[in-house]
Amino acid sequence: MPEDEITILQGAKTQLSKIMESLNKSHREHLLSFAIQEWMTMKIGVDSDDESNDEDEHVLDDPAAKLRKIVEEIRDKIPLNAILPSENIQLPTKGPNDDCDPKITVHVDGFLYEDDDIEDLVKEGKMSRNYCKDCGSKNTSPLIFISHSASRDELYLIFNTLLPTLDGKILLDVGSRLGAVLYGAYVYSDAEKIIGVEMNKDLCDLQNEVIRKHKMDKRIEIINKRIEDTGDLVRVADVVVLNNVFEFYLSEEEQTSVWKFLRDNIKKGAFIVSRPSISSSLSSLNTGIDVDQWIKPVDSEIDQPVNYFAEETERVDDSMKIFCYNVL
Ligand SMILES: C[S@@+](CC[C@H](N)C(=O)[O-])C[C@H]1O[C@@H](n2cnc3c(N)ncnc32)[C@H](O)[C@@H]1O
Repeated sequence: MPEDEITILQGAKTQLSKIMESLNKSHREHLLSFAIQEWMTMKIGVDSDDESNDEDEHVLDDPAAKLRKIVEEIRDKIPLNAILPSENIQLPTKGPNDDCDPKITVHVDGFLYEDDDIEDLVKEGKMSRNYCKDCGSKNTSPLIFISHSASRDELYLIFNTLLPTLDGKILLDVGSRLGAVLYGAYVYSDAEKIIGVEMNKDLCDLQNEVIRKHKMDKRIEIINKRIEDTGDLVRVADVVVLNNVFEFYLSEEEQTSVWKFLRDNIKKGAFIVSRPSISSSLSSLNTGIDVDQWIKPVDSEIDQPVNYFAEETERVDDSMKIFCYNVL
């Protein structure tokens, strides 16, 4: 490399190091994720429409562009709140999300809509950030935004900083919904087998459509079942993802029994990636599970990326962080 270019690069590195040193660990991770998503996609010669040669590549050249393409396709197929008519989502009255008052809770899918997209929707009048506390006045308060999918930033962090390399491993996403975790695992990890179990058939059809279109079926498989009916699979999984999985979908009784099932079947040494923390998911249930005997935390939790105007909603609590455990 010519000397003047080396100098330019060195200067850029010094500036970047200064910025990094001024940030805490979590903000550093977000900045890195942002830089990769924004700039990797600008590589010369990348054609994000070309799905022809993905089949045998484990970690793709341009993962963010691949995810963005999938997002655009899914957005066109489902309602703005990303909830299908065949779903029966209940706002929890107990547990870490018990503050979700239906009058002030908005469902916005974090995989499909990032901060900038939400900003655009607000500008277009398709979405509001605030509700009027005292109708007609300017006395407003932020709405509660609930996402039923992992965001693209979170997927990057899960597979690049939270989990170890997944070469030869089996990843299971419990309740795979739109497939966000599966596509994230596909583009960011070298997991050999990526399996989504989802009880809603329409969501399975949607995921299968995406997987077929993008020729991801060598590594990704969707199973349309309740997780409780897939013991053989749960017992062999090396990584089990539990992202807000049961609270909005199952009765208290069903949640109690599915947690016992997971405790009895996830193998020793497996990783569990969860949001919220497992202890807070279990706190309002009578499962009899001794969390300290079952799992041990692997690393510090990941904060939710600054998303959905989270600072304004004052709701950046444990229910929005991602946790990782090892089964004892
Ligand atoms: C919050 S979404 C998780 C989405 C996805 N894992 C992600 O992180 O993007 C939870 C999903 O779990 C599904 N689900 C809930 N209970 C289930 C069960 N017992 N078996 C299979 N799927 C279930 C729901 O239908 C819903 O689509």
